[in-house]
Amino acid sequence: MRQPLYAANWKMFKTQAETARYLDEFLPAVREIRDREIMIAPPFGSLMIAAQKAEGSSLIIAAQNMHFESSGAFTGEMSAAMIQELGCSAVILGHSERRHIFGEDDELINRKILAALDAGLMPVFCIGEKIEQREASQTSEVLRRQIEAGLKDITVERADDLVIAYEPVWAIGTGKTATPEIAQEAHFFIRGLIVDIFNAQIAQNMRILYGGSVKPANISELMSQPDLDGVLVGGASLDPQSFAAIVNHS
Ligand code: PGA
Repeated sequence: MRQPLYAANWKMFKTQAETARYLDEFLPAVREIRDREIMIAPPFGSLMIAAQKAEGSSLIIAAQNMHFESSGAFTGEMSAAMIQELGCSAVILGHSERRHIFGEDDELINRKILAALDAGLMPVFCIGEKIEQREASQTSEVLRRQIEAGLKDITVERADDLVIAYEPVWAIGTGKTATPEIAQEAHFFIRGLIVDIFNAQIAQNMRILYGGSVKPANISELMSQPDLDGVLVGGASLDPQSFAAIVNHS
């Protein structure tokens, strides 16, 4: 069965000192958790302190981005080996803020996913439609394009290491969470695409997270949907008690 994954995307928040304080409070609050995986994605500068604090726990440390090359003249970028050296075993790729603010396209994201898998990192591959696309009934088409292009050239053998995060852009940071039914419908559709691209077994095992205004008040309802295998949480993950409440929901 798919083990639920609760992931925190801190975006450009938290210095090293803030990260240390957060984990001192958060880790004891989730100590009893056995059947759920927990991931935290701090900004680059706080990765190492987070990894040090997480030592001895099962907390997964993830970067929020990386470059697809292993080294080179790429000002401001980080390679897979560099983030691994800081303690990462996973990386968020294709987040809508990377796509829409920094101009990342499907092809670039595909190269990053391939590089992450090559390096042995678990990619959390984000997809999602914008409000105007949903209103124009283009959601399925957009998700299909993002998935097909993003997962191009990924072999069946490597697909098991991948996590997908469905994050409708209109729900990110807006307080407008997708209803559990809307999320389930998209997740079911995405799982079907995974059957087509890989096979039924891979689709059955693949975790599909939901992201977009997840908070303690809506986590249980969202997680009650059969195709939701976890969440990617932005704003509500910045407070340790709030994220612990999400992870510990019943
Ligand atoms: P949000 O962000 O929870 O603040 O909506 C989610 C995300 O961007 O991953």
